[in-house]
Amino acid sequence: MYTLGIITSSDTGYKGGREDLSGKVIEEIGKEHGFKVERYVMLPDEKEMLKEEMINMSDNLKLELVLTTGGTGFSKRDITPEATKEVIEREALGIPEAIRAYSLTLTKRAMLSRATAGIRGETLIINMPGSPKACREIMDYIIEDIKHGIDIMKGRTGECARK
Ligand code: MTE
Repeated sequence: MYTLGIITSSDTGYKGGREDLSGKVIEEIGKEHGFKVERYVMLPDEKEMLKEEMINMSDNLKLELVLTTGGTGFSKRDITPEATKEVIEREALGIPEAIRAYSLTLTKRAMLSRATAGIRGETLIINMPGSPKACREIMDYIIEDIKHGIDIMKGRTGECARK
């Protein structure tokens, strides 16, 4: 089993104004692919709170993967990529590049995602957009290869050769 933390960033959701369908999609697809959700939180679009939780999931809980949903767009309050950039130690830009390249084949609006990804300690943090539809599309596309990345990050394999 791989360990997973989910952070939903949404002012409306935090106030109880909207059900968190995106976090649930991530949880459901994660479980189907061998991830155990060890922590799942909903936060407002507040940079310091997002940073604090990412640091908690990495440094204290030592989760292998943290997936955020929401706050990657152009709204004034969207701040998840900025929070992520301030906590990661090493960028993993191939992941958002791949997500955007694939997502652009589905909707040109993928160009509007400012999502990023990177590694803090032995935790991989990846931003995803806020819509459940986008989360489903992206999870289905990335999740198996992300497991390989986690194995390398954790030193469980150095072997990248394809069969
Ligand atoms: N990526 C995929 N795969 N599918 C989508 O429907 N929606 C886009 C984009 N990425 C989308 C997607 C839209 S409409 C926006 S505005 C941005 O993600 C940012 O979303 P966010 O502000 O909810 O984080």
